[in-house]
Amino acid sequence: MNSRTYQIAVLPGDGTGPEVVAEGLKVLQALAGSEKLSFSFIPYDLGGDRYLKTGEILPDSVLRELRQADAIYLGAIGHPEVKPGILEQGLLLKLRFELDQYINLRPVILYPGVETPLKNKGPEDIDFVVIRENTEGLYAGTGGFLRKGTPDEVAVQESVNTRMGVERCVRYAFEGCRKRNRKKKLTLCGKTNVLTYAFDLWERVFKEVATEYPDVTTDYAHVDAVCMWMVKNPEWFDVIVTDNMFGDIITDLGAMIQGGLGIAAGGNINPRGVSMFEPIGGSAPKYKGRNVINPLAAIAAAQMMLEQLGLEKPAQKIEQAIRRVVLEKVKDLTAGKMGYTTQEVGDLVVEYL
Ligand code: IPM
Ligand code: MN
Repeated sequence: MNSRTYQIAVLPGDGTGPEVVAEGLKVLQALAGSEKLSFSFIPYDLGGDRYLKTGEILPDSVLRELRQADAIYLGAIGHPEVKPGILEQGLLLKLRFELDQYINLRPVILYPGVETPLKNKGPEDIDFVVIRENTEGLYAGTGGFLRKGTPDEVAVQESVNTRMGVERCVRYAFEGCRKRNRKKKLTLCGKTNVLTYAFDLWERVFKEVATEYPDVTTDYAHVDAVCMWMVKNPEWFDVIVTDNMFGDIITDLGAMIQGGLGIAAGGNINPRGVSMFEPIGGSAPKYKGRNVINPLAAIAAAQMMLEQLGLEKPAQKIEQAIRRVVLEKVKDLTAGKMGYTTQEVGDLVVEYL
């Protein structure tokens, strides 16, 4: 079957990252045993602790090595003793940008047995995918200060949207929507009534590319309305495509309606390069080392990694195991309220593989 060994760079990172990554690796190892799959896990100690000790965030030599990996498996970035922005920009965003992971793929799926805060909504209603542009927009880091620190200070932060960047994201979304083959409906989430340059470009590109996909129904909604409908009528959505900032915001909302950050995973995708997979919840420092954080999001990220590597069958096995764990065992997905430890949840997934 698969005779090659997949080189997986592992970045456990900060806070609870190492704990959840350990469970994801446990699941991958178990799969490797049963599926004749072979992984070589290459660990990197990037993150807040290394930065505080050595001042290094992402050395060029490490970046060069990461470019050679088949995929990157990331825990979490963010350290309470490091000023916000340093690690996020210097490590997480730098990896996304340098490796040109121009798609952030975030499924929002409510599995049977998992509670959603939405009244009268169930698994049949909450099943969509958000495709977030991942290398441009407000995240491009352009702008600056004028007269900083004075009463006349000016701060400008610009949203960068290139024709190329928008088009490749929109195209990926149409392709994904077609492949997913559910409602075959793609919604562009923007703000054409206010961001009349950026989303004018998005809308034009969207309409243009749509002509190549007559089988996909298209729809448009402003981001504020998307937030409303994600709560009121999540069943309307199949695939949503949006820019970096809006995608960041609506996927936290998405995580909440699918049962919380304990289960929400995402992939930073470069379809022709090295992709990186992570639980989207962050480093949760207050739960660090307590063996109470939910590893299912990290395990679901491992599942997405296998899908991206073309390993559909083992990926499906992980998904089935996660589904069984939440249906039969872990009722509350919140850290500290699972009724199981982090390691026990990982063991359950392995048992159900
Ligand atoms: C995410 C995170 C990051 C982002 C932060 C940590 C920079 O919130 O992956 O959604 O804004 O993209
Ligand atoms: Mn976010």
